[in-house]
Amino acid sequence: MTKITAAISAVGKYVPEYILTNKELETLVDTNDEWITSRTGIEERRILKGENKGTSFMAIKAAEELIQKSKINPKEIDLVIVATATPDLMVASTAVFVATEIGATNAFGYDLQAACSSFLYGMSTAASYIESGRYKKVLLIGADKMSSIIDYTDRTTCIIFGDGAGAALFEPNTENLGLQDEYLRSDGIGREFLKIDAGGSLLPASEETLKTGQHFIHQEGKTVFKHAVSNMADVSEKMLTRNNLTKEDIQWLVPHQANKRIIEATANRVGVEADKVMMNIQKYGNTTSATLPLLLADYESQLKKGDNLIFAAFGGGFTWGAIYLKWAYNS
Ligand code: UT7
Repeated sequence: MTKITAAISAVGKYVPEYILTNKELETLVDTNDEWITSRTGIEERRILKGENKGTSFMAIKAAEELIQKSKINPKEIDLVIVATATPDLMVASTAVFVATEIGATNAFGYDLQAACSSFLYGMSTAASYIESGRYKKVLLIGADKMSSIIDYTDRTTCIIFGDGAGAALFEPNTENLGLQDEYLRSDGIGREFLKIDAGGSLLPASEETLKTGQHFIHQEGKTVFKHAVSNMADVSEKMLTRNNLTKEDIQWLVPHQANKRIIEATANRVGVEADKVMMNIQKYGNTTSATLPLLLADYESQLKKGDNLIFAAFGGGFTWGAIYLKWAYNS
């Protein structure tokens, strides 16, 4: 019997028009362009402006671009997963709304939350459904409106995050392309270092939590940084050794875009040159669940059928991991 693997067959993206530059941030908090660029690699990020626009607005646009480019009939989509840390609503899955809006009327949908590793974990979920033979078209969207949970008076977080969305379609493949291996990890010690305290079941929103800004994201940057560097490098290296790959076998490293220094440390450990490392952090900052699909969309024209890609991510929780995937098409 032919082995069924799960391949990415199309990608799409959306970033909002509004560009928040380092210069503009200088007017909001005590920071400067030189500090932000040298410490993070970020030059600007996109912000979703306007009333009544949540994460779904961007997810829908990214999915619509994918549908239009790939010419698939949305009615053929079996499942829509929205990987996000910023759902439209606390209850009522964003993916369900997105599926209906894009015309995926035969699909079911749900959200997946693993902070900055949401899309990476989602790749594993999407691939498993395809490999099992149960579904034929799984649309995975990574989307986050980080500006909705950022305190723009907190210079330790507001300089990092941006808004955006990217989408990838997973389909069965019989040429052994697509997802080859994965190593996903998590550790609850991380909960203290990157979180939103209020608004969940532990501490429901109240006048007090609003006053103290506990509905905003807080992170202990240095601690998260240290864990991100060592763990992203470890899992990426593991993908190579476990699959008998040398650095010459890798065409692309696809790292979560949290900090240019974390990306470079991961690349150094894997041993790949800078020109094999996907990077767009300078344009978008950290878009949480959207970083990996935005990279795929930005680099799609350079990707060739059979290319070996190593994905790696690290995020709150802590959550992290790496995936080895063979690219399935020439665009
Ligand atoms: O994607 C999910 C996971 N998230 C991450 O991976 C983020 C990981 N962390 C980081 O990327 C970095 O830790 C940051 C970019 C958040 C911070 O960079 P850092 O090199 O770790 O800086 P730091 O927090 O150690 O701060 C160094 C100094 C401090 O001043 P003192 O105490 O040395 O006088 C900070 O107060 O820089 C100061 N500082 C700033 N200065 C100008 C902190 N934020 C800023 C700022 N502008 N925006």
